[in-house]
Parts: sequence; structure tokens; C-alpha cells
Amino acid sequence: MNSELDELLSIDDFEAAAAKRIVSGAWARVQGGAADEITLRWNREAWQHIRLNPRVLVDVSVLDTRVKLLGQELAFPILLAPTGAQGLIRPEGDLEVAAGAAAAQATLVISSSASLRVEEVARHCHGPVWFQLYVQRDRGFTKDLVQRAEDAGCRALCVTVDSPTHGVRDREQRAKRDLPSRDLPNFSGKDYLDPTLTWKDIDWLQSFAKTPVLLKGILNVKDAERGVKAGVAGIMVSNHGGRNLDTVAATADALPRIVERVDGRAPIIVDGGIRRGTDILKALALGAAAVQIGRPYLYGLGVAGAEGVARVVRILRNELEFAMMLSGCPTIASIDSSILW
Ligand code: FNR
Repeated sequence: MNSELDELLSIDDFEAAAAKRIVSGAWARVQGGAADEITLRWNREAWQHIRLNPRVLVDVSVLDTRVKLLGQELAFPILLAPTGAQGLIRPEGDLEVAAGAAAAQATLVISSSASLRVEEVARHCHGPVWFQLYVQRDRGFTKDLVQRAEDAGCRALCVTVDSPTHGVRDREQRAKRDLPSRDLPNFSGKDYLDPTLTWKDIDWLQSFAKTPVLLKGILNVKDAERGVKAGVAGIMVSNHGGRNLDTVAATADALPRIVERVDGRAPIIVDGGIRRGTDILKALALGAAAVQIGRPYLYGLGVAGAEGVARVVRILRNELEFAMMLSGCPTIASIDSSILW
């Protein structure tokens, strides 16, 4: 297995290997997007279309990828996005992701649709963890869940705000009969998305949350503005990996407008289609403080459990370091729009 892992050099290599290993129903769930999967494709293409404009003759012999985010120090600006299908990929998937994240020193955002209780995932994670929240209709249960996540050591709360309902996921729907039903122990009922969620609920969450509250799933500058005014600690520019509303803008296209509007008042994290170190460099050059990856580490999980997860993170980290050197940026702070064409 190890030698096979060594031959997987890129996220695309992992994707191809994962396609052979992950059973078809789970693969459709991981890989699929909404409807015609146009945004899913755009997410990739938009990063690819951005051209770099590197600087030369800069001493890049010592590289520093550390960033400070919400007062927390990260060894590098790549987080593992919350994903809920881990137990479908491998029975112990949630725990293997926790172990892989810790081995690679990556911050893991534990999903509230994990196959295990948040406490159990957090206990197995020896690195930094955050929690992703779907606010549920049962607000009492939701409040308890937030407090349980905080008590379990989660250091930030990412409230997913782009999901009043599920996306029209045709690919996943077609594969439905190949998907076993799963336990979702962090939910109080089956119907866990709440279409009544509004800004007043964000105020309510902030009234008792002890950890910083971020909004995950912002694309419109008006919502970014409103979020900053509501005092949130961070904005996550995301289209849910192209899984919710098809034909929304790619996140690489949404990011610059949001950066401009937020104007440094809150850190911005972006996800969607990040598959190369150069994508990360571009996101930072456009003004993001960090990126998240979703599917890439699920490919790693499917191929080789915890080791695969860690390897995927190391590949991206390594690629980011090469991209920094080759564009004349020895530190994260030195990455700015001057390296974009
Ligand atoms: C997700 N995503 C997600 N988001 C969230 O807020 N809560 C969740 O439970 C899930 N579950 C989930 C499952 C699977 C299988 C995928 C692929 C994605 C979205 C995720 O956090 C992130 O926004 C995207 O995955 C980023 O895009 P890439 O990196 O997958 O292209």
C-alpha cells in the first residue's frame, strides 16, 4: 500500500485511485454536484483560468507558511472542510479523517452530519478542531450541540447558511439505492435543515457561543456586509462544493468582490475546487486568509484511510511551498495581488 501511495503525486491521482476504491453509491455522493454540475465544473475552471505573474530575485531560501486566524496559529492555511459522508466511504471514516488531519497538523472542521457524535470525533483528533453547524428546528437541541462541541474542544463555529434545503443532486439521487442509510447522531430528527433560519438566529447563536462564529456559504456581497455588521468572526466564501444551487458563480469569481466589500473587517476563507498549491496561492493573492478542501481529503480517505488524508494535505502544502518560492513569496503575508496577471 505504501508504495502505491507514493505513486500518487497529485490530487488528480488520488481522485482516479479513489474512483476505483470507493463503492459506487458513496462515490456518487462524494463526487456529485447539483443538477447539471455546472458550478462544480466552474469551481475548478475558475482557479485554472487565473494567471500568475511571479516576482523574481527574492530570497526564498526560508519559507514560512504559518498564518494567524481568529487568534489561532495554523502551520499552513489549509483547513479540512466539513463533510458528512465519511462513514459511507469507510466504516471508521470519521476517526480516520481525525487521525489524518492530526498527522498532517491540519485544522479539521467537524461536520454536524458526521457519522459519530462530535465528542467522539474530537476525542480522536489530536490537532486543532472547529465545528460546523446546521441550525436545527429544535433550537434547544442546537444550543446544546454548540455547547457540546465547545466542551469537546472545538475552537470555532462555522454556521452553514447556504442550505435552507438540499440541492437537486441528480447524480446522488440516481445512486440512492446503493447508499446505505446512515446514522446522524448530531441531529435531533431526520429533517435537519431549517428553512426558517435568518439573521436573528445568527444573533441568537452569537449571544451564547463562546467560540468565534463564522458564516459558511456566502457568495453575495450584501450578505458579506450584513455578516460583518452582525459582528461575525469570519466569512466563508463557499457554494457548498457545487452541491446546492447549480449555476451559482464559482468561488474564485465570488471571492474578489467579497474581499473588496469586507475590506479587512473579517478574515475570509474560501473553498470549492481547490486542487493545486497554485489554487491556494491564487486564493491568498485574491485576499483570502485560508482555504478549505473537501473532496480531496475524502479521496485520500477512500484510498488509504488516515494515511491517505495526511498525504493529500502534505501534497497540497508542498505544492503551495513550491508555488510560493517560484513566485517570490517567502511568507504568507507577502502574497498579494501583485503576483496575479
Ligand atoms: C460537503 N460539504 C458540507 N458542508 C457543510 O457545511 N456541511 C456538511 O455536512 C457538508 N457535507 C459535505 C459532504 C460531501 C461529500 C462534500 C463533497 C461536501 C461542503 C464542503 O464543506 C465544502 O464546502 C466543499 O466540499 C468544498 O469544495 P471541494 O473542495 O469539495 O471542491
